[in-house]
Amino acid sequence: MTSRSQSPAAARPPGFVFVRRETNHRTSRRDGAFVLHCENVSLQKLSEQYGTPLYVYSAAMIRERYDAFDGAFREHPHTICYSVKANSNLTILRMLARKGCGFDVVSGGELERVLAADSKAAKKVVFSGVGKTREELTAALKAGIMLFNVESESELWALEECAGRLRKTAPVALRVNPDVAAETHPYISTGLRKHKFGVPIHEARALYAKASGAGHLRVRGVSVHIGSQITDVAPFGEAMTRVADLVRELREDGHRIDYIDAGGGLGIAYEKPSAMEFSANVAAYARALAAPLKGLNVRLLLEPGRSIIGPAGVLITSVVYRKENDGKRFLVVDAAMNDLIRPALYGAYHEIVPVTLSAGPAAKSEVTDIVGPVCETGDFFARDRELPAVDEGSLLAILDAGAYGMVLASNYNTRPRPAEVLVTGKSVKVIRRREKVSDLLRAEA
Ligand code: LLP
Repeated sequence: MTSRSQSPAAARPPGFVFVRRETNHRTSRRDGAFVLHCENVSLQKLSEQYGTPLYVYSAAMIRERYDAFDGAFREHPHTICYSVKANSNLTILRMLARKGCGFDVVSGGELERVLAADSKAAKKVVFSGVGKTREELTAALKAGIMLFNVESESELWALEECAGRLRKTAPVALRVNPDVAAETHPYISTGLRKHKFGVPIHEARALYAKASGAGHLRVRGVSVHIGSQITDVAPFGEAMTRVADLVRELREDGHRIDYIDAGGGLGIAYEKPSAMEFSANVAAYARALAAPLKGLNVRLLLEPGRSIIGPAGVLITSVVYRKENDGKRFLVVDAAMNDLIRPALYGAYHEIVPVTLSAGPAAKSEVTDIVGPVCETGDFFARDRELPAVDEGSLLAILDAGAYGMVLASNYNTRPRPAEVLVTGKSVKVIRRREKVSDLLRAEA
């Protein structure tokens, strides 16, 4: 028996909430503990059943965030093209496709995934990336995607060649680099001229002229993406202002511009979440994007990844050992940088909470590092983190791990990748089985 109770602070409603446990069925006496649930399912039960490390996603939260995003742009003709790179699990793609969502892909592999999830999705697919190969371009032309976001003159000619060979016409946008700085980690900032992405916005007009002269290309739009995990909406507005100016110029030059692809990049609150925040945030984001587009009469394409899926997933891990080196405390857990690389790669912050919290007087807390078993000093999830004291064998939940978690997982140290489960209300579906070492060995001679 469980009863909903006021959630302790680190919960992420509606997906992840603490629920008060009633232990003794005969006396109905509560032990007072709160157990973190995904929707109506206890994460403790899930880990007993499926083992750890384990990725758990909330279907309700994915849907809610998609709807909030979609709703924020209701005043403007738009198509959401979920950025597959953030989390590419087939079941999640299928779920989004059923809601009418399109997709942003960056490889032939991602395109195949999207088509496997929904064979009719191609007409809502945009293809981005600086290094699309001729094989990938050809596959996308055959599938009949909505838009190629071309990132260089060489790619333009490669696309012309592939389309010519298939006797098809490729719908094209140039990804322009607006030279707008956005506050984020340097590895995921993309909108400056020093970055490899896109073509400088001041060179775009000349390139559009070449594109429209090509026999198998059809100019359809302009695309931009200034980076990821951007929490201030001003740079998005600034980029859009520059793109809007370009669109006016291109139309004067006689090009047909139906689409502006605004990319992705809206950040989430890894450190201080609140229930209200997302709808307010996405509304501010929508206002920043839409203002410069007044009167332009274009369809806006949006490529959100993290903001849809990030908070909808957690990584559950168990504490293998407690350890103290000269007074420095460590919790060694069974997940590692190969399962979730964001802290190691970007120094990213993820909230970490015990799956079970005793109620009553707050449990004694301690300052500790939370580290994995991989042989690298960079294999940590948190450093000097204050956490309620937990014993060996306890479960921890690493929050906001739905985006750039499982997709970036590797087999470093010959560690099989975790299973993924999707929770919908009371029901649980394994959407990717846990890998076995034999899976890893199979591909080798
Ligand atoms: N569109 C393009 C062209 C992109 O390059 C990206 C992300 C997106 C859309 C989606 O952006 P989002 O809405 O998710 O911010 N691994 C890093 C993030 C890399 C983002 C790469 N591009 C991380 O874990 O923070």
